[in-house]
Amino acid sequence: MKHGKLNNERIAVIDLGGQYAHLIASKIRRLGAFSEIVSTDELQPEKILSSFRGIILSGGPSSVYEPLAPSTPRKLLDIGLPVLGICYGHQLIMHQLGGDVKNAHGKEYGPAEIQISDFSGLFAGEEQWDNAVVWMNHGDEVKTLPDGFKITGSTQDCAFASVADTSRRIYGVQFHPEVADTVRGDCYLGNFIKICGLENSWSLEDFLKAKTEEIQKETINRKVFLLISGGVDSTVAYALLSRSLPRDHLKGLLIDTGFMRKNEINEVKKALAAVEVDLDVHDASPDFYEKLGNVFDPEEKRRIIGDQFLKSQETASEKLFETPGDWMIGQGTIYPDTIESGGTKHSHKIKTHHNRVPKIQELIQAGRIIEPVRDLYKDEVRRLGELLGLPDSLVHRHPFPGPGLAVRCLCSDGSENSSMPIGDFINKIENKKNEASDICDQLIRHSLEGLVLPLQSVGVQGDQRSFARPAALLPLKERPSWETLEKISRAIPNYFSDFNRVLIRTGAKNPGGYYRRVPNRYLTPDRIDTLREADSIVTDFLREKNIYSEIWQFPVVIVPVVCGKNQAAPTKTPDSDAETAGPCESIILRPVNSRDAMTASVYRMNFSLIDDLTNRLLKIETIDSIFYDLTSKPPGTIEWE
Ligand code: XMP
Repeated sequence: MKHGKLNNERIAVIDLGGQYAHLIASKIRRLGAFSEIVSTDELQPEKILSSFRGIILSGGPSSVYEPLAPSTPRKLLDIGLPVLGICYGHQLIMHQLGGDVKNAHGKEYGPAEIQISDFSGLFAGEEQWDNAVVWMNHGDEVKTLPDGFKITGSTQDCAFASVADTSRRIYGVQFHPEVADTVRGDCYLGNFIKICGLENSWSLEDFLKAKTEEIQKETINRKVFLLISGGVDSTVAYALLSRSLPRDHLKGLLIDTGFMRKNEINEVKKALAAVEVDLDVHDASPDFYEKLGNVFDPEEKRRIIGDQFLKSQETASEKLFETPGDWMIGQGTIYPDTIESGGTKHSHKIKTHHNRVPKIQELIQAGRIIEPVRDLYKDEVRRLGELLGLPDSLVHRHPFPGPGLAVRCLCSDGSENSSMPIGDFINKIENKKNEASDICDQLIRHSLEGLVLPLQSVGVQGDQRSFARPAALLPLKERPSWETLEKISRAIPNYFSDFNRVLIRTGAKNPGGYYRRVPNRYLTPDRIDTLREADSIVTDFLREKNIYSEIWQFPVVIVPVVCGKNQAAPTKTPDSDAETAGPCESIILRPVNSRDAMTASVYRMNFSLIDDLTNRLLKIETIDSIFYDLTSKPPGTIEWE
């Protein structure tokens, strides 16, 4: 009843394993109809019929022919409710009704244009928008249709991109209408909502009202202690809690991990004071640095940060409260955080969010955690912040992850590693000779040298977490156009799953064509200081050039790689205080546009601005090279770790 609806005015989103199920549900709500996630265990067709007005089958990484692939009762398609299958959901419907689904020999990620052949149903009113961009992310695809179905839209590589049996009101799309990169996705889903008869039946104002009452019930006789990171999510969570709780029942604490941005703490304090919110600050940075001393594995870093967060919070709260047991812990967790940590039943783990480490999970089980914005996506959190009267400057800040600069500082252990020419790497891969020669041709045609960098970063490929290599493009002449760069950066991970990112080098102190990973680079205050400086140069630059608000998020990442065989090796290790000798790090710029953090596209910065920014960053003494990340999400994630 949290949506405030007693009847069946809602749409069931059946979670078939994609990280997209919650996104679909949230999108449907944003478009004005309430939706709920339903797991495949809870699927009794009669109950669905009495509780919902429509059904959406989500995407997922499975193939319909896998023995353990998630499935739904065939009868669900006969109860008379409108049904929309998305990606895997579409394939499942086709398979169950007698169509053919086959492996498409290679995966298709990224944008495609849809040619619409029937302007009714999902495409009603879309006449002016034929050939709009849709977002693809699949391996299998439909090859023949069941009786009663016809094609309603096709893309160049996918004939059955959209199909329908209008008499039964069953629709299927191979692309993802719920992600922001499907340009007309909201309209297609809006049409489905109309087909269900639910237009304008729910709003975020309803959510706010229902959530305020829910928090009051949940916190009865208890106080809430909220960790404020300085980001949008925890601040909005705090404001929402402050609506439901008396002032002396709510306490905000900012734990300074040592991974905050330059001047961030003061700015947060000031912004909160303006909305009459008190904030305590506890400096825990020495504890964090000590625990992370010689750790380089990203998952291990996240686990340690999550655990240390809790320890520091306990230490600080012991000082603040005499009876910590009466207090609940508030967190500003939002939907993508829970989904990508494997929050829905079938979703694969992409990475562990610091709000979802095992100790926090224990507290969740014990009913001691309260997460008022956990059902919302970033843009909903921002809109809620506006509804709550928070200032624009705070609500519209770029998102910043809880573990802060720590997940933007890649580490290395003691092993040596170096780059190799991309041709040498891909030409060795069996059964991919044509793809390898296509990539090599494109690189030659555009005067680009290609390297496999000696690094790994987190990505998401075909709905699963990947930990793969970046390919770096080194321009030998003038930089090719954005269109060309994006085309190449799509092709490389599409053809070769060994890569989840493609970068272009925008400048280097020593512009050679060979990179090596600098060993023994850990999370140390000096490296974070360098990153903090680079991050601040970038933020100031964006404000100066008036482009801050054109960009959704702009991670600046420091990586321990340098160009050239003879570059002086740094001697600083966790056990030694010796000075570093010369440049020993590179910077990766990762500006993206996104709406919901589930997908993202690259921000196309003007080339002259890129050069200006690169020159400013190269002035930092220890920085060797600057790269610009050209990867969309998927296959890369927004953060590098
Ligand atoms: P990815 O890298 O998964 O990021 O594409 C999606 C969004 O989530 C943010 N993010 C985090 N936020 N704690 C947070 O509070 C985390 O551990 C974390 N990891 C990623 C990221 O900045 C982006 O906005």
